Amino acid sequence: MSTEEKVASHYTHGSLETAILQTLLADGKDIDNLRIRDLAGVDEFHLGRHAATVELARDLDLAAGLRLADIGSGLGGPARHFADAYGCTVSGIDLTEEFVRVANSLTVRCGLADQVSFQQGSALALPFESGSFDRATLIHVGMNIEDKARLFAEIRRILKPGSRFGLYEIMQMREGMLPYPMPWAMEPETSFVCSPDVYRHLLEEAGFAVEQEQDRSAMAIRLVHEARARAAAGEARDQGFRTLMGPRAGERSSNVNMSVEGGLLAPIEMIAIAV
Ligand SMILES: C[S@@+](CC[C@H](N)C(=O)[O-])C[C@H]1O[C@@H](n2cnc3c(N)ncnc32)[C@H](O)[C@@H]1O
Repeated sequence: MSTEEKVASHYTHGSLETAILQTLLADGKDIDNLRIRDLAGVDEFHLGRHAATVELARDLDLAAGLRLADIGSGLGGPARHFADAYGCTVSGIDLTEEFVRVANSLTVRCGLADQVSFQQGSALALPFESGSFDRATLIHVGMNIEDKARLFAEIRRILKPGSRFGLYEIMQMREGMLPYPMPWAMEPETSFVCSPDVYRHLLEEAGFAVEQEQDRSAMAIRLVHEARARAAAGEARDQGFRTLMGPRAGERSSNVNMSVEGGLLAPIEMIAIAV
């Protein structure tokens, strides 16, 4: 099996759409007329969840009519936010066929299918024409991709000069062994976490100038503390997110959260300009 096949298999659930719809129905949602906020907690697979997406979108200087490519789009929560809040036209691409299918279905249920669509494909061979996008985003995807030089070259290729590329990635902040399983990999074999220095260097090599960098650890840790307080107060656990995470969800969440709290890992946002 190639690395990409292993990664897609890692994220494949098998009956994710049914599980998500059951969670939404149990919460009393109208699943044929979903609002974006109904999906909060089930469609954003990254630290800091929706709050982090909102910050990234602000820093991307988005506007109506801009074409945005979301690379490794998952279930499409970030893509739908960029379209709904700013009027962008968003094309998502993701390796995991099931995620693409569920992302398109949820988008139809939210009434956003004329602005947002998803297709299956590899971030290392993007099925888009050169110079065809005004913005690109990469949210918690690089941890599964070893060849980041090729990844950034592909993203630079599809962007127009002067465009903004927003990354929000888990990066390694000091030497140390990562605990596994992690949300993105059960074992080190498909995990390729790098430092901010490596990201900056590879981005510059690919033709980007890094304009901004923000460590979002405090935001991610605050959300974890709030979730722990809710659990301690006897409120229901975050079932939607556990469904999305799959086997050993508690252990995987706790490994990444402890690594961020201990300063070994950090969710870092970078805004890079295509030069
Ligand atoms: C942790 S999830 C993040 C999903 C989404 N960006 C979000 O924040 O909700 C990582 C995603 O990256 C996708 N992915 C990993 N490697 C990829 C590759 N080489 N090409 C395209 N997608 C990839 C996975 O299929 C998965 O959907």
